[in-house]
Order: sequence, then C-alpha cells, then structure tokens
Amino acid sequence: MFKVNDNYLKLPGSYLFSTIGKKVAAYTAANPDKSIIRLGIGDVTQPLAPAIIDALHDAVDEMAAAETFHGYAPDLGYEFLRNAMAKNDYQDKGCDISADEVFISDGAKCDSGNIQEIFSVDNKIAVCDPVYPVYVDTNVMAGRTGTYDPLKETWSDVIYMPCTADNNFAPELPKETPDIIYLCFPNNPTGSTITKAQLQEWVDYANKVGAVIIYDAAYEAYISEADVPHTIYECEGARTCAIELRSFSKNAGFTGVRLGATIIPKDLKCGDVTLHSLWARRHGTKYNGAPYIVQKAGEAVYSDAGKAQLSEQVAYYMNNAKVIYQGLKDAGYTVSGGVNAPYIWLKTPGSMTSWEFFDYLLENANVVGTPGSGFGPSGEGYFRLTAFGSYENTVAAIERIKKM
Ligand code: MLT
Repeated sequence: MFKVNDNYLKLPGSYLFSTIGKKVAAYTAANPDKSIIRLGIGDVTQPLAPAIIDALHDAVDEMAAAETFHGYAPDLGYEFLRNAMAKNDYQDKGCDISADEVFISDGAKCDSGNIQEIFSVDNKIAVCDPVYPVYVDTNVMAGRTGTYDPLKETWSDVIYMPCTADNNFAPELPKETPDIIYLCFPNNPTGSTITKAQLQEWVDYANKVGAVIIYDAAYEAYISEADVPHTIYECEGARTCAIELRSFSKNAGFTGVRLGATIIPKDLKCGDVTLHSLWARRHGTKYNGAPYIVQKAGEAVYSDAGKAQLSEQVAYYMNNAKVIYQGLKDAGYTVSGGVNAPYIWLKTPGSMTSWEFFDYLLENANVVGTPGSGFGPSGEGYFRLTAFGSYENTVAAIERIKKM
C-alpha cells in the first residue's frame, strides 16, 4: 500500500489565501446583492503596461514561424533576460552579480517554496513573525519544522523572530543560531523596511554563524526612501551568504503571467559545494523554464518605455497606499507600512482578533482584507490591506471603513 507524505497532514488548515477565498465565496453566495471590494491577497489590478503587451505580441508572432519559433528554454532562462536583470537590478546599482547567477523561473512563490529542497532536512529555519506563509508551510511539507502547537500556533523546530510595534516590525538577531534565515523586505505582510546598515548586520551575522539568508525582494520596486536597500547584494559579504528571490508580479503586474528569478552567487558554498550547482541541477531536472513569450515580456520591463510605464504603475498603487494609510489614520486606526511597500498594516480596533475583524469588515463594509494572525502568532490583533486595488475601489473601501 502506498504511503503519503504525512508531513502534509501536519499542516493546520488550508493555505491562508485559499481560506480567505472560501470565506468570501460563501459570503458572496449568501449575499449576492453586495458589492465586495477585495483588498486581501496582493494581486494586481492594472493591465500590463503597453511596452509589455507589445513584447508579448511580437513574441507570439515569432512563435508562428518556423524560423523564429522557440521550444524548450535554456535551463537557467534566456540570456537576454538574465543579462537585463543582472545589468539593471544589480550591476547598475553597483552590485556584483553576473547573468549566469540569475535563474529565471515562473515566479517567486514557487522559488521561495522550492528553494528549501537543496538544503538538508536537519537545517533549522528562522522566520519573521508574522511572515509570508509559504516559507513555513513548505518547510513543514519537507519535515523540517517539528511539531505544531495549536495553542501557540508555532512549530517546535522553527525559530520565530517577532516583528511587532515594539521593534518597529524589524526582526532582531535570534538567540538560537539558525541555519537558514528567511527575510523579506519591504516586508510582506507588515509593509516595514530595514535600512542598509540593519541589513548589513544580518549579512555579517549570517557569515559569522554559517547561515544562509533567503532574501525575498519581491517588493523592492515600491521603495521610496533613500536608505532602504533594493537588494541584499548592496551589502558587503552577501555573495557568501545570500540567495535573493525576485518577482515580476508586483513591479510589472505579472501575477497572472508568471515570471520570477532566483539569484545564487557562485561564492555561496557549503564546504566545496556551491548552492548554485545544486539549484542548477534541480532546475535542469525538474523544470523546463518560463515560456519564451513571457521571458520576452520580462525583457520589456527593462526597456526605457517599460521602465517609464512601470514607474507610473507603481506610483498609482502607492497613491492607493497613501489613501489607505491616511484614511485609516483619520478614522482613528493605528497604521504602519504603506511608505516603501504596497501593504498597510493596521491594529484591529479594541480587543478584536484578526479574524473577528475580517468578518466585521466583510459584513459591515463588504471589504476583504487579510487577518494578521494568518501570517503568524505575532500578527494577531493586526490586519493587512493591499494597495493593489483600483483607485476607485480603494477610495470606496476607505469611505466604507470610515462609516463603520
Ligand atoms: C500576498 O498577498 O501575500 C501575496 O500576493 C502572495 C504572493 O505573492 O504569493
């Protein structure tokens, strides 16, 4: 008789955004006349920029002729895209990353879930609390997290680094030494950031204790303040301790198109083994690459027209962030985030739990958000709203919240 991977059975509930989706579907079915505004999952709403649409059309046409048709993509991704990323995201910012250290994929969610495969199951992970649930859940699936305490909502073998108002939502170096440290800045879900000096402390710490940092930079396009690093490779020594995850979802609206990348410097080693070689082996074995037409669309992100159009798109969402931030403040909420990130993190009113506030908001304002406790125990009593809605919906949602 076959056996299942019973690590899966340890996972409590369903994936956060699936649970929210089911709750909203049930509410909509029971209240078909209500117009729901969704500011829950961080899914973009603006159409792809014209430069990207043009690149997609051109690439589709190429696929229609034998001379320009493309089959399987190269293992690491097309050179045109890896070159564009290495140049624009790293070299132009003074960071030493070369094109052959860029692995193109179909998104940062998959990469952030899959990357743990190249590490031994004995490694101990450290995560911010609250945290994007994929990091922990995928380590649970791999059997790396020990046992679950349903009361504390924590795993016995995970090091939690609380990010609360007391530490300005910035994690402190853990007391227990981790092997793998997950960091995401600008942060999902709190919208907080850390300075370059703070990130340098993490890099120095990781190099000192022999840990690897998995740095999720999915929201870097939203950084507006000068002292906030756009990539961990701005820090000295990051080449020997850090993997970086990049996404095209938030900066270019590819949530439905799917494109991302993982950066693994060749200096990042465990003994003589480079993590680059392991991820290359995994990519070659398990993955056939993001589609050519999508990689061509990704290349257009770095064209002059693409850059100009996308910076307008980011500004559009950040204007929403301002509307949410200011509107909630005016309504008396305690709010943070929203300055270098498209997420606004608010304290639930009174003693309401995150899920109580979710229901309250859905029923009274017909607005969907994300309960902070879904991201970890330190998220309890908090709530996340995304700036990725349309401007009109964002304004309407805040008006409704103010009237509650
Ligand atoms: C979120 O809402 O946290 C994100 O959209 C999830 C993701 O990027 O996968």
